[in-house]
Parts: sequence; structure tokens; C-alpha cells
Amino acid sequence: MSKISETTRKTWIENTFPEWGTWLVEDIKNEKVPEGNVAMWWLGCTGIWLKTPGDANITIDLWTGNGKRTHGNGKMAPGHQMANMCGARKMQPNLRNIPFVFDPFAFKSVDAVLATHYHQDHMSPEWAAHVINSGMTTVNELGEVIPVPFIGPKKSCDLWRKWGVPEDRLVEVKPGDSIRLKDIEIVVLDSFDRTCLVTTDTTDENRDELTGICPTDMDDKAVNYLIKTPGGNIYHSGDSHYSIYFAKHGKGHDIDVAFASFGENPVGMQDKMTSVDCLRMAEALKANVLIPIHWDVWTNFAPDCEEIKLLYDFKKDRNEYQFHPFFWQVGGKYTYPADKNKIYYHHPRGFDDCFEHPQNIPFRCAL
Ligand SMILES: [Fe+2]
Repeated sequence: MSKISETTRKTWIENTFPEWGTWLVEDIKNEKVPEGNVAMWWLGCTGIWLKTPGDANITIDLWTGNGKRTHGNGKMAPGHQMANMCGARKMQPNLRNIPFVFDPFAFKSVDAVLATHYHQDHMSPEWAAHVINSGMTTVNELGEVIPVPFIGPKKSCDLWRKWGVPEDRLVEVKPGDSIRLKDIEIVVLDSFDRTCLVTTDTTDENRDELTGICPTDMDDKAVNYLIKTPGGNIYHSGDSHYSIYFAKHGKGHDIDVAFASFGENPVGMQDKMTSVDCLRMAEALKANVLIPIHWDVWTNFAPDCEEIKLLYDFKKDRNEYQFHPFFWQVGGKYTYPADKNKIYYHHPRGFDDCFEHPQNIPFRCAL
């Protein structure tokens, strides 16, 4: 067999995707989280893998999909939440802007699968299938072995149920709930995802009519999470828009690291937090560190994180900010509080063992 005769579209896909293969899966598995810390990896969009010194591993919004892959008929479904919001009908050109940095089927264990809400870029049938089909288990508060729970608001549980996730796996949560798991506590808080409020169950022309109807209960559709860990408290705001109620969460909870869904909203659309919203959120939450996420994933919502840095520097002394931003990269690790003072993430640069082995060069002057 020659290279030419054995190469097909299928071999190309298998050899190329996911782009990072099992690299990140190996990193996460091999990580020993230092006492008094919490390690997190950014999986893209709002997907986070969180790991503690007690080996609690949870995923929040792990997602394995993508955006548009063809122009199709060029139309948006008339009942799509963004069509509901702004009355557009032209297809949204939201192509996935980032590589896949993990292989969902390569993970061997996890303790809980969490979703903030049920939009397509926050839940994964592939991950759900793998967790269930590989028989992953965890231990509950009493030390009993149980199947890995799927934790989310009502509509996320409805979607998992529709995919075939067994009933006894589903843990429907609403603001005020709390779940303990190994050395973490998951506190469920209000979401402020107003795009979720205008999401209807069907997206064809017969979708629910929302005009004049009092909004459905956000608590059924979306939640935020505060993950209390030995390394600090991590606030995941899902796809929340800005709300003054962040201040209430900041008064009621000790928040160390806050994730904000940041994006450059196209004209006519309001879906992601702006740079100013992100700064206001971190200030209201009284967080120590603000980490913008979600900005990475959509070509048509792509912002420049330097905008946050610029405005942070402009406002920090006037507003006496007690937090600073951290600018992450997809696939990167952030350990809190070990990395607390970092502002910019850079992937490991390698070559730290330079000149520790014989070189093979004609003369040193060639260097
Ligand atoms: Fe989203």
C-alpha cells in the first residue's frame, strides 16, 4: 500500500481531529493538584475541567460541537432564539474559531457532568454517551459508589433525558441548591441569560409566540454555579448577560475567580457581555480574578481581549478595583491561587532542558 492509495477523507479526519489528540487528556489525568489549590483547564467556549487536591473532577459546559459547516439555504430557523430576539432571518455566520483541544472519548473518569443551560454550545451528546457507555462511577457524600451524576437546570435535564441519559443519573437543580462531592461543594445560583429567556422549544415557523407573554422562569432554563474548592471559590456565569444582581451574589458569597462570557455583539444582537459588562461583573461579585471566556469560539462574535485590559487599566484606580483580569488560552491550565498574579496565559514554551545534552552543530558561532 502506498501513501497515496491508503489516504482517504476518513484517514485525514482520524489523523487530524481532534487537533490536540489526547495531549490535554493526558495532562489532566497526570496533574497532581497541590494542597490548597484548584486546577482548571479551558476546554473552549465556556467549557471548564476542574480538578482538586482530593481528586474531584468535574466538567462544566463541556461541549464537543461546532458551528456552521455549510451555507445551506442561507436562512436561520424562524424560531431560533436570535431570530426571536431581533427578527433576523439570514443565516448567522457563526463558524467555530478554535481547534478541538481534547478527545472526549479518551477520558477515563469524571465525578460529575454539569451544564449551566441547554444551548447547543454548552452540552455534548458525545460526552454524555462516553460517560454512560464506559460505566464511569464516583462516590457520594457517604462514600458509596454511584454512577456519575448529570447536574443541570430542568431544561438541561430534559435534553439529557431526550438523548437517553438514564433517569437515575439526572440531578435537576435550581438556585439555592447545593451538592457536596469529594472535596468540593457545588452551589447553584441565578443565571441572567436573557438569550435563554427568548429560546423556544421548537424553532420552526410554528414556534411558541412570546409576544406579550410573561417570560418563562429563568431557573428552569439556566443557572450559574459557584464551585467551592480547597483552592478557592470559582464562579461560572454560564452565558449570563450583565445583571445588577451580580452584586447580590457578591454580597452573599466569597468569590475568588469569576468566569464571564465575553463577546463582540454584532449590531442588532445582545448575547454576550461587553468588556465593560465583564469589568462591572467582577467588581460587583467582589472577585479576585476576572477570566473572560466564550470569546474564543464564534467567528462572528470575536472580540479582542485587549479591550478589557485597556479599560481595566483606565478604570482600576478610579473605581479602586480589587480584582485583575486573567487572559487565558483554550487548552491552557490555570491553578488558583498558585497562578493568582498572572495576567496573561502562555502555553508551555518548552526547551527548558537546552544545553543539557550534546549539541550537533558545526561551530558554536553558528548559534
Ligand atoms: Fe453559549
